[in-house]
Amino acid sequence: MKFFIDTANLDQIREAQDLGVLDGVTTNPSLMAKEGITGRNNILKHYVDICNIVDGDVSAEVIATDFEGMVKEGEQLAELHEQIVVKVPMIKEGIKAIKYFSDNGIRTNCTLVFSAGQALLAAKAGATYVSPFIGRLDDISTDGLNLIAEIRLIYDNYGFETQILAASVRHTMHVLECAKIGSDVMTGPLSSIEGLLKHPLTDIGLEKFLADYKKGN
Ligand code: G3P
Repeated sequence: MKFFIDTANLDQIREAQDLGVLDGVTTNPSLMAKEGITGRNNILKHYVDICNIVDGDVSAEVIATDFEGMVKEGEQLAELHEQIVVKVPMIKEGIKAIKYFSDNGIRTNCTLVFSAGQALLAAKAGATYVSPFIGRLDDISTDGLNLIAEIRLIYDNYGFETQILAASVRHTMHVLECAKIGSDVMTGPLSSIEGLLKHPLTDIGLEKFLADYKKGN
């Protein structure tokens, strides 16, 4: 399973990249705003800065909601850097834009996906990635992980190449469960990746190894 980090914070992206296990980055307009990145030019520059830190795919979201606008913006975003994947919302015009991008060799990430039907449509349109938001489904007392399992089943039934990118991952258990289900990618905060490191027996064991070494040296 690929690990993406879901942030526009360059320090956190660098930290995840330094760990050596980072496969890409996802952002969205809310994450950009959180970092105080505003204005079209600053946002475009920020995407390039992110691409220069990481080796993998970087999702950059269109703001337009009409077909022509999405195509124009998406083509601009894709020109910025070869690592850019154009993030398009799951709406009717978005599906048309994904089909257009797919026919024209531009990679896409279909975002704001909350049902298996939406994921099926995104795959039919040729999306490179589909982003089901599992945390936000959990927030409304629905089983977000079950959606990942449903999409996995449907994609495997028909051999769709669209990669399942489990998004809105909130914690380490989400990461583990996504890996068990067979999600292709997960995107979450740095804490959800670093949480994988932790086990109290590791800390106790290491402490003892080091203490025993000191005794003999
Ligand atoms: O990748 C989608 C993500 O940015 C949404 O996460 O935590 O705001 O639901 P969250």
